[in-house]
Amino acid sequence: MGKLYDRADIYDLIENESRYNGFKSHWENILRGRDIHTLLDVSIGSGSATLQLAELGVHLSGSDLSEAMLANCRKKAEARGFDIKLKCCDFRNAADNFDGVFDCVASTGNSLPYVSNEDLLKTIEQMDSLIKPGGYLYFEIRNWDKILTDRKRFFPYAPFFDGETRINLTQIWDYNSDGTITFNIMYLFEKDQRYLQMEVFEEHYFPIKRELFLEKLKAMGYRDIQVLPYPSHVDRKGTPVEDLPWYCVIAQKQ
Ligand SMILES: C[S@@+](CC[C@H](N)C(=O)[O-])C[C@H]1O[C@@H](n2cnc3c(N)ncnc32)[C@H](O)[C@@H]1O
Repeated sequence: MGKLYDRADIYDLIENESRYNGFKSHWENILRGRDIHTLLDVSIGSGSATLQLAELGVHLSGSDLSEAMLANCRKKAEARGFDIKLKCCDFRNAADNFDGVFDCVASTGNSLPYVSNEDLLKTIEQMDSLIKPGGYLYFEIRNWDKILTDRKRFFPYAPFFDGETRINLTQIWDYNSDGTITFNIMYLFEKDQRYLQMEVFEEHYFPIKRELFLEKLKAMGYRDIQVLPYPSHVDRKGTPVEDLPWYCVIAQKQ
């Protein structure tokens, strides 16, 4: 079965200007009151959730395991006139791939659960070593505690369009006996009321319990550890963390 990130062209079909602006509002909320002028995203992908930072005046660097995703990111950055530094590498070795330190090191888009919990803890250490004192560690992930409780299987998205082609995206999640979860991601294309084509991808995740990274961040001496609704521009005021579908975590290094 194909890997979604080899098909950045399909991954990016969901993008539009309103989505872009939504993420921009999210970053405005995150930047407010924090001294963040340089940021490295270690899972920048095609940049859909991160490029907005360059527009907000942040000096942006990014890395990712997928050349195809980075190629799309580079194209989009050029089209918007952003000057960003990109590198292809595994976030488990991020510290070997960048010199100097950043005001913030981030992992966007539920990317950390691609590695085992043990490797996740190592990745947090790698990210930490690239953060300057007083800087921030930030990541976005799905609420895996909730996923493991609810064990929902079907996730239809609202249809979106590529010109006159309508795209119906559905995810079907398989709960594996070893504790991992496989996302079967199906794109069904149709035009003029007729079926055109289907593309199916399979992604494999290691659920991350909130307690695991909260304990790690505390043990590393991080302060002001905040778990916030993601994306923050969608009004979820009053929703307890346990009930959020996604959240982001931001914590300040000593
Ligand atoms: C869901 S996408 C998110 C991309 C982007 N941040 C966004 O929000 O659109 C997950 C990304 O994580 C990257 N990834 C997965 N494992 C990785 C690893 N070990 N090191 C670096 N990147 C990785 C994939 O290549 C992919 O681009």
